[in-house]
Amino acid sequence: MTLQALPGDPFFSRRDNALFCEEIALSNLAAQYGTPLFVYSKAAMLGALAPYQRAFAGRNAQVHYAMKANSSLAVLQVFAQAGCGFDIVSGGELSRVLAAGGQADKVIFSGVGKTRAEMRQALDAGIACFNVESEAELNVLSEVALSCGKVAPVSIRVNPNVDPQTHPYISTGLKGNKFGIAHEDTLRCYLHAASLPGLKVVGIDCHIGSQITSAGPYLDTVDKVLDLVQAIEAEGVAIQHLDFGGGLGIDYNGDTPPAADALWAQLLTRIDARGFGGRRLMIEPGRSLVGNAGVCLSEVLYLKPGEQKNFCIIDAAMNDLPRPAMYQAFHQIAPLTQRATAATLYDVVGPVCESGDWIGRDRTLAVQAGDHVAVMSAGAYCMSMASNYNTRGRAAEVLVDGDQVHLMRERETPQDQMRGERLV
Ligand code: LLP
Repeated sequence: MTLQALPGDPFFSRRDNALFCEEIALSNLAAQYGTPLFVYSKAAMLGALAPYQRAFAGRNAQVHYAMKANSSLAVLQVFAQAGCGFDIVSGGELSRVLAAGGQADKVIFSGVGKTRAEMRQALDAGIACFNVESEAELNVLSEVALSCGKVAPVSIRVNPNVDPQTHPYISTGLKGNKFGIAHEDTLRCYLHAASLPGLKVVGIDCHIGSQITSAGPYLDTVDKVLDLVQAIEAEGVAIQHLDFGGGLGIDYNGDTPPAADALWAQLLTRIDARGFGGRRLMIEPGRSLVGNAGVCLSEVLYLKPGEQKNFCIIDAAMNDLPRPAMYQAFHQIAPLTQRATAATLYDVVGPVCESGDWIGRDRTLAVQAGDHVAVMSAGAYCMSMASNYNTRGRAAEVLVDGDQVHLMRERETPQDQMRGERLV
């Protein structure tokens, strides 16, 4: 049988007939911790961060891990210890950063709907910057800052109207999107921000989308943002930092995004040529730091042959792995042990009572009930988007570090789920 190249290789690899994460056989983890189980490779996370660190070596730069991709505490701890800051989108995420040992002064706060309470929480913590997404938010933030006796550091998130050529649900920098302030309104909003007593303009920000697999949209964005910086500074408002967001894609199924260092070499050449190379530079990568550092292990519960389709029913479902149902996303599904028996075409589905609960369609697999599979590339936007639908507890998570295994999240129990509920 031909084996597909595994995303996440060499941190996830096949040795003889067994799938390994670093030095640990995944089948041992499934036996010890049960399934569904998320398994992360610490070396894969640091290995994904390294090309960004190389690209920005010697520069005044900060990587802010966009923690919405995976906000589990132990994941945050790995990145905090590696020197990362964090891009947050809620007060809850700020609480997680602090609980994981991250520094508030390396936190930037994005999102279109920050509440007053979240603004206060972030001001009290002393975050580095609010990425403001509307004129109304500028006014409210100034008011809240004044009421706390503080000045809020702000950048405006520009919507550069660039097509990132990705799934419509994860495009954010186009005119029809709810995100950011339109390119043509940006200058006026900066002058307004500079006039508000509770704000201090410190930077400019953009983010055009996710799972971007080519450099072109980034180059267009860099040009548009730098044009704006020139126009804003010509009006006397200084822009200290330039934040180019996240969005770099990963290999799910033969996708070929540029490597982070190659992409940034190209972008930095452009930024240097335009004379902005000495500015403080910031980025907000999420998926590219964790996506291929995690897999979800699941047990085959039943094989159900049918007239039109054969179903392979596994114990992980759309509540654990929502991306196929939400974005028709593709995740490779690899048996932990290859069988020599003939393979069959299956739709791989979960136990949730929805036809949309599928994990992979038309997959050729040689599996039997009781076998285990790994859903690959499950480090980003899986656990952080997991739900309790059908009163399914969220999965357990382990972190592999060489030959060491750390349980980083216990499997959620029904009691955990009902905590806080009351009979009336
Ligand atoms: N910065 C901002 C302001 C963002 O909104 C996002 C992601 C990022 C950074 C990180 O983008 P990344 O480097 O991860 O592409 N749930 C979807 C992806 C949603 C992305 C939302 N924003 C998925 O599973 O594909």
